[in-house]
Amino acid sequence: MAFEYVPLTLPASADPSFFATFGKEVKGVTDPGNLTSEQFNELQDALYKHSVLLLRNCKLTPEQQYALTKAFDPQSESYGHGNNKTGSAKKSILHPDLKTIPRVPQVQLIGNGTVYNHEGLDIAQLAHPSHTTFHKSRVSVEEEAQGYTRFYRRVPQWHIDAALYDLSPPKVTTLYGLEVPAGPKQRVRYDDGTGDEFEVPLGTTAFVSGRNMFDILPSELKSLAVRSKVIYAPHPYVWMAPAKAMSTGLGIESDGLELPLDELPPWEESKIKTLPVTWKNPVTGELHFQVHPCGAKELLVQPLPEGANREGALYPDGAHLTELKEVRELLYKMQRPAIAPKLVYPHDWAENDLVIFHNRGVLHSVVGAFTKTQVRKFHQCNLAASEDPVGPTEEDIKRYA
Ligand SMILES: [Fe+2]
Repeated sequence: MAFEYVPLTLPASADPSFFATFGKEVKGVTDPGNLTSEQFNELQDALYKHSVLLLRNCKLTPEQQYALTKAFDPQSESYGHGNNKTGSAKKSILHPDLKTIPRVPQVQLIGNGTVYNHEGLDIAQLAHPSHTTFHKSRVSVEEEAQGYTRFYRRVPQWHIDAALYDLSPPKVTTLYGLEVPAGPKQRVRYDDGTGDEFEVPLGTTAFVSGRNMFDILPSELKSLAVRSKVIYAPHPYVWMAPAKAMSTGLGIESDGLELPLDELPPWEESKIKTLPVTWKNPVTGELHFQVHPCGAKELLVQPLPEGANREGALYPDGAHLTELKEVRELLYKMQRPAIAPKLVYPHDWAENDLVIFHNRGVLHSVVGAFTKTQVRKFHQCNLAASEDPVGPTEEDIKRYA
């Protein structure tokens, strides 16, 4: 091995037993923009094994970041959300958060504050997505002043980077920190009656492992997970735009606020995404629980395989769940345990950090609130994949059903 892999620095809130393989800092990469094919192959293998890789002190142009991201899926070409200048994207809740680098449209400038003369952009007004505009309830102004916050984005919150309509979820996302404002730590509060809260660095990106999310489920929910597929809404970010997020940032409150399907921009049945609940890791063969809770609309459950024990099994004869509230409650029950503080890695950004994450193996969330004058400047790149993720094999289903 050319590189050295060391454990990430975990906060006191995290339980190291969940991080034995999840997350590594990679040392010895001097020039990530010019890797040999041997070095790249090693890094790719490490990414699928560890899900999140941190490289410190990187120098990376937008062209190099695009090339590095594309190397994980050479057939991929366009940004993960497609062309975000289309009319439908304007209504989407993602729109204000993204500024495209004109020279390399697959790379987005994200962050906070006003940025001048940046990579061909004369001026960019960046707004760090905040829970205060999207959550159904919010942390009060007084509490915010005391340092309390929540997981948030107006919508994605805990999410996978993916359009979830027409395009396939990107395999990998690269996040490169160019300018990171310093500031006091904040406390993330879940506000769901559990009392869960923990301390995070200002403007952290929080990660949880989809593999842990699957592994900690009781057997009846593992059985349900391997037998289920999610049907996502057409144009999900437009569909969900009027709705409000859960206080934990894990999905949407079911208040019937979603746009009716006939009020969405034109859509086609054939472009709707139906994706397995668990995605098979191409290197380790392990299953990762990968559901974007906000975009999920229906659940398709296949019957138990022949010979499986029916005792205690959920939906043993299969089901097609179309009641939004029921779908969301079921997914929430399966996903909430894995976002408990002890399972979360909140990255403490330093300038020139490059985080490469297996977008099909983790969920992540933006956290924290900035003032208007705090400038945060990041480059983000992910590419709509050349193929959909692969679900569990017949053997996997037999094993867990
Ligand atoms: Fe993201």
